[in-house]
Amino acid sequence: MGVQSVIFFSLTLLFCLKAEASHCSTHGREQHAGLRLVKNISELPQDNYGSPGLSHITIAGSFLHGIKEVELWLQTLAPGWRTPINRHSCEEVFVVLKGSGTLYLAPNSHLEYPGQPQEFPIFTNCTFHAPVNEAHQVWNTNQDEDLHFLVIISRPPIKAFIYDDWFMPHTAANLKFPIFWDEQCFQTPAKDEL
Ligand SMILES: *[C@@H]1O[C@H](CO)[C@@H](O)[C@H](O)[C@H]1NC(C)=O
Ligand SMILES: *[C@@H]1O[C@H](CO)[C@@H](O)[C@H](O)[C@H]1NC(C)=O
Repeated sequence: MGVQSVIFFSLTLLFCLKAEASHCSTHGREQHAGLRLVKNISELPQDNYGSPGLSHITIAGSFLHGIKEVELWLQTLAPGWRTPINRHSCEEVFVVLKGSGTLYLAPNSHLEYPGQPQEFPIFTNCTFHAPVNEAHQVWNTNQDEDLHFLVIISRPPIKAFIYDDWFMPHTAANLKFPIFWDEQCFQTPAKDEL
């Protein structure tokens, strides 16, 4: 697997900030900005954020669309690719639309580091959640098929702590805020309405 499967490199998004900034919501004013209520998911912006094995679409976003309590992503991992090991204090529910893989979960938030994770096979039409503050990783371990899944999180925007490995102390995990797909709209904070 090696280097090829490590995803989420540092980002060079600056070049597209200007072009896409108009997609960002400003304090729930999106209806005035002419955004449609019913959107075609196939036409929403999609990006890999520097990781060739990832496709991410924010279907309903806090920064992007002014959604306040939940956020919804559609993601695809190519064979062999995986999410970073991460944890967060928001709730996160996954729905696998297609493909299969492995969920790794280390329910050891009370210990110094996550430790050896438990492995759970995941498959088409399954659902699971990442318990609050427990380190987890989703890995497309199926060499023949993409893994498509929906992700619902509570209380956006997400503040994720990312681990290099399962034995990295919780205190050494790196806070990734804003998360990769929130960076662009985070750069253009909402203006207060006077
Ligand atoms: C949604 O977008 C896709 C890709 O552009 C297009 O093929 C499809 O016809 C669209 N659906 C509708 C109902 O417009
Ligand atoms: C997934 O669920 C849908 C809707 O119930 C069903 O049509 C489809 O056959 C299921 N796919 C698999 C692989 O189980």
